[in-house]
Amino acid sequence: MKKTFYQLDRILTEYADVWRISPFISSSPAWTQEYPKLTEWLLALSGDEVDELQGDDNLLCQKVAPYFSVAQEILNLIQLPFCEKQPSLARSYAWQRDVPGRKVEQIEAFSAAIADISDPLLEWCCGKLHLGRYLAEQFNLPVLGLDINEKLVEHANQLAQRMKSNARVEQCDVLSDEAKSKLTSQQHAIALHACGGLHVSLLEASVENKVKRITLVPCCYHRFNQSDQFHPLSKVAQSSRLKLENDDLRNAVRQSNTASDRTRAKRKKLQSWRLGFDLLQREIRHVDEYLPVPPISPAILSGSFVQFCEHVATLKGLKIPEAISIEKYEALGEKRFFEFSRLELVRMTFRRALELWLVLDRVMYLEESGYECTLTQFCSADLTPRNILIDAVRLKAII
Ligand SMILES: C[S@@+](CC[C@H](N)C(=O)[O-])C[C@H]1O[C@@H](n2cnc3c(N)ncnc32)[C@H](O)[C@@H]1O
Repeated sequence: MKKTFYQLDRILTEYADVWRISPFISSSPAWTQEYPKLTEWLLALSGDEVDELQGDDNLLCQKVAPYFSVAQEILNLIQLPFCEKQPSLARSYAWQRDVPGRKVEQIEAFSAAIADISDPLLEWCCGKLHLGRYLAEQFNLPVLGLDINEKLVEHANQLAQRMKSNARVEQCDVLSDEAKSKLTSQQHAIALHACGGLHVSLLEASVENKVKRITLVPCCYHRFNQSDQFHPLSKVAQSSRLKLENDDLRNAVRQSNTASDRTRAKRKKLQSWRLGFDLLQREIRHVDEYLPVPPISPAILSGSFVQFCEHVATLKGLKIPEAISIEKYEALGEKRFFEFSRLELVRMTFRRALELWLVLDRVMYLEESGYECTLTQFCSADLTPRNILIDAVRLKAII
């Protein structure tokens, strides 16, 4: 795994200027001059092709590779084995009630991936404890879940009682010492889609308490971190020249292949309006520079583009002169969006590489701390793009 990490690290360091600079901010990134054939190919893609490439890291690298050879290297490096065991099809109705369809399949795949479970389970950031209840039933083991959200905790315990489950949840902040003290060397800690700082706290506390086994599917690496500067966990990653910030981490999870068509359409329109406003503000301020705008709810799309610009201008303390025709910026924004969404694909070519770099940092930290790790894709990316599963077992010699 170290070898893969070093190769990814070299690529991400060498091409940082390509994957860091968003074409949302800079309309013609420097690489477009260096790779004219790549730029020409991108700008000729249809909307459907862009959507397909955005949702499939392998296909994206494959298609980009003839124009940008590093994409082939990335494609080779990001291949992880799929978990061999298939989920069992025998579903218990009691458990499945109240669980959204996609979550059912993720949980069954997670369970198949960890295969043999024999120790009491502790589920970190369990939400409604769907995973914990399923595993308690399948393996006849006690499960303790931890979650900070009072309503979720209450709901989870009601669901567990209704099916007479051996699983229960305690309300707890997993960043607190109290949560850490609940981990013991006889447990198997599990977490499905625990965000950045939350799964880091699980790993650090598990190492400290010599937890027997940890099975983790990480997600949203940029969330719940203590600072804007990313601190790698492993000694290997700490010695890298690559210094990541929270914004970089966000890039590792920028993917929308499980979003509905409606959500995607709204996101595109909002981006297009934002780009239209960006061109407008450059004109008003006489400064050809991107102006950061805070997140805006898609609810604003029910109004007109003119109202949108007036709203954002107010947020930024700008006055739009009456002589300026705002309407024309809507069409200009659409044109910018067309170019942006195509040029952005080059940045996305590095997305899975960045995610794997982060996952390998966690894996190497566990290995440095006396665990043996396996890394698999526990389900297809269509079910969830955050489909990398770390399974770590504490080596007996170290106990
Ligand atoms: C992405 S959800 C995952 C839930 C569940 N594991 C699943 O896959 O459906 C993240 C969960 O973390 C919980 N959470 C967020 N911050 C937390 C904290 N500081 N301590 C404990 N739980 C937290 C949220 O309430 C939420 O239920």
